Amino acid sequence: MSPPTVKLNDGTQIPAIGFGTGTALFGRDAENSVKRAIECGFTHLDGAQAYDNEDSLGAGMKAAGKPRSELYIVTKLKQGFGAAQVKPSLVESLRKLDLDFVDLFLIHSPRPLKPEDGTLQDLWQAMEAVHAEGLAKSIGVSNFTVDDLKAILPGAKIIPSVNQVEIHPYVWKAVEPIVTYGRENGNITPVSYGGLTPLVRAAGGPVDQVLPPIVERLTKTLGKPVTPAQVLSKWVTHKGAIIVTTSSKEARIKEYLEAFQVPDLTAQEIQAIDDAGAKLHKRIFMRHVFGE
Ligand SMILES: NC(=O)c1ccc[n+]([C@@H]2O[C@H](COP(=O)([O-])OP(=O)(O)OC[C@H]3O[C@@H](n4cnc5c(N)ncnc54)[C@H](OP(=O)(O)O)[C@@H]3O)[C@@H](O)[C@H]2O)c1
Repeated sequence: MSPPTVKLNDGTQIPAIGFGTGTALFGRDAENSVKRAIECGFTHLDGAQAYDNEDSLGAGMKAAGKPRSELYIVTKLKQGFGAAQVKPSLVESLRKLDLDFVDLFLIHSPRPLKPEDGTLQDLWQAMEAVHAEGLAKSIGVSNFTVDDLKAILPGAKIIPSVNQVEIHPYVWKAVEPIVTYGRENGNITPVSYGGLTPLVRAAGGPVDQVLPPIVERLTKTLGKPVTPAQVLSKWVTHKGAIIVTTSSKEARIKEYLEAFQVPDLTAQEIQAIDDAGAKLHKRIFMRHVFGE
């Protein structure tokens, strides 16, 4: 079953969950993983120039045999690239992916950006230019703080459609102001990566204690087993974010997609996860941008 889609501020639709080719697949051949994810029902694939595997992402798409029109392909401008590299690097990504356009092109990170490469505003103007040329249907940002958004929004002809950032209960207190600012200043949709951190990278933390009763209630309500990972995915969705995740295992890939059949969390359950998350701050990725 295909995941639901969400409308972005430019009118396009993004599938509510994407399969990532970074982290576990960073710098590795992603063909088989991408093929399997598409065969299981993923249509949104999250790549990046920095992952150094766009050619295998393209090969995986081809091997899965799904029409291009049913796929949603994302890539990101390599960190450290300036305005002059936006178009040539995207053209090179499209060559590797064997595509005419990507559905979404993101600035991977606002930093590092060398002064000789221009400002963030210059970078965003170059993103607007590749959008105007049709090389990217939507454009957005990743790892942008409120100040980074403030730097580009006043001069922007196009508001970023998304801001892809680390979102899970152990960074929610820090990231909520970015999510809220984006929503209030052009309806920028948050995209979450690292969403399973409480289970995968910070096991034993306070969130562990609040998940079991929620899992139990939802399992009873649904009439089949619900997992802690699915509860965390629901939590991310309740925060209004698109999920980007990944797995090397078919059973887990299916589990991620089946999270959309899990009933909603109650306001009290969301609050319990928020409160437990607020007891521990743990950021895994992009500390050079966000600090701790
Ligand atoms: N924009 C950025 O700067 C940025 C940064 C980081 C990531 N990303 C994107 O987001 C994607 C996903 O990132 P992520 O890996 O952080 O996602 P995640 O959803 O937090 O974690 C996925 C990982 O969790 C493991 N996992 C899932 N359930 C588990 C369980 N119950 N027990 C133990 N391990 C479990 C999976 O391993 P198995 O293979 O064993 O299932 C998989 O490697 C990346 O591939 C990339 O595309 C973007």
